[in-house]
Amino acid sequence: MTVTAPMARKKGLFIRTYGCQMNVYDSERMADVLRPLGYAPAASPDDAEMVIVNTCHIREKASEKVFSELGRLRDLKAQKRRDGQDLVIAVAGCVAQAEGAEIMRRQPAVDIVVGPQAYHRLPEMVARAARAAANRQGTSKGAGVLDTEFPVEPKFDYLPAPSTVKGGAAFLSVQEGCDRFCTFCVVPYTRGAEYSRPAQAILAEARGLVAAGACEITLLGQNVNAWHGAAPDGTTWSLAQLIRALAEIEGLSRIRYTTSHPRDMDDSLIAAHGAVPKLMPYLHLPVQSGSDRVLEAMNRRHGRDLYLRLVERLRAARPDMALSTDLIVGFPGETDADFEDTLRLVREVGFAAAFSFKYSARPGTPAAMMARQIPDDVRDARLQALQALLGEQQRAFNAAAVGRTMPVLFQEHGRKPGQLLGKSPWLQSVHAEGNARLIGSIVDVHIRATHSVSLSGEIVTVEPVEAAA
Ligand code: SAH
Ligand code: SF4
Ligand code: F3S
Repeated sequence: MTVTAPMARKKGLFIRTYGCQMNVYDSERMADVLRPLGYAPAASPDDAEMVIVNTCHIREKASEKVFSELGRLRDLKAQKRRDGQDLVIAVAGCVAQAEGAEIMRRQPAVDIVVGPQAYHRLPEMVARAARAAANRQGTSKGAGVLDTEFPVEPKFDYLPAPSTVKGGAAFLSVQEGCDRFCTFCVVPYTRGAEYSRPAQAILAEARGLVAAGACEITLLGQNVNAWHGAAPDGTTWSLAQLIRALAEIEGLSRIRYTTSHPRDMDDSLIAAHGAVPKLMPYLHLPVQSGSDRVLEAMNRRHGRDLYLRLVERLRAARPDMALSTDLIVGFPGETDADFEDTLRLVREVGFAAAFSFKYSARPGTPAAMMARQIPDDVRDARLQALQALLGEQQRAFNAAAVGRTMPVLFQEHGRKPGQLLGKSPWLQSVHAEGNARLIGSIVDVHIRATHSVSLSGEIVTVEPVEAAA
């Protein structure tokens, strides 16, 4: 569906994004859907007529931030009112979904609360908020428009296609929601049931992204390898089939997908890693724990053996495969022996990178009600020990790159003048001196040194080359 609107007066829109890459993708879609109303990106909330805070509910810390940020926005709104201007405050994302009514109660300056499945209805909500604001001249009380319905129609059918690609790399949401119900996790409640977009819509969006300058596409989903979509040939494709079809797109050099669940890593997907050169040799495969007892209490439905076997098979299919993971320490009931199992698994796999978290009890999830919650000092000590090990592994992985030449997709300027910053096939950050016209292309770089979490080197060819790794 195309939305046409008379050229409206330009208004500034500032979006602050927290949480996962799906929120990054959604923020761009919200900007797209509001563009016909005259909203264009603003550099800061001060320059904006509308601010959207796109929130994350995954851990307590993430959601706490939201209320302090909303307090600051209330003050800004009041100041703008005094100057005769207006500020529409909208809260989107997973906190909006989980605590919509609470947000309205605690921060009355908020105009709009919009859940992740309702973004296509934003224009209508903004219009309602504007009408309400006009009737409330002189106060900074918000309009109170709330939409956290899980719609009958998938939002993707109503959102405009992405229009811009920065730096040659793009995200593409293919799957949303989750049916796995890990006992610690809010995602099945905030994003709803698992939904796969049809293959045709994904292929069309991918072709559009490539036409707009993308040479790398990362397929996104809360449980992306559970994707199973209606295909052009009338059958249902698996993610492996979708990747093979995407690999046919000329001009697309790199394909990635994230985040995967170990139980949904099927044979065809493992085989694709060996057969599709455009599929990058890097996989984010969260394991959460190395203890079978804890994995069971987490309702992960896989043990440590299944995970270790998967890693073996992935490396057999693609010998240069690098892995990253997510780990939680201090899950209720986790003993010292359980934690040792986690360290042992990490040693056995050898991760290129990892995210590790202290377990955070989330309201409404089964784990929050479990006995034997782990004291904070124990969680802290375990996190520290785990992060020390993971840091060592990451440094070793990066050190092994020194002296090698690898294709790097330059995505932006580096911090120093004349410097470019990009990504290796293994998702390492690489900087090198180079001409700004190389941003958005893949160039061979000879790696000279490692730094705390990045690599640096010298460009060996100036002509853009196709990703071959
Ligand atoms: N869909 C992905 C990840 C979703 S959230 C998956 O299946 O793994 C990203 C990460 O946040 C999770 O992998 C987990 O490690 C962490 N996480 C989720 N809930 C958490 C909680 N309650 N406390 C601490 N970490 C959590
Ligand atoms: Fe959360 Fe588990 Fe679903 Fe990942 S698989 S989103 S951790 S419930
Ligand atoms: Fe956070 Fe929601 Fe993503 S809780 S991690 S923003 S799915």
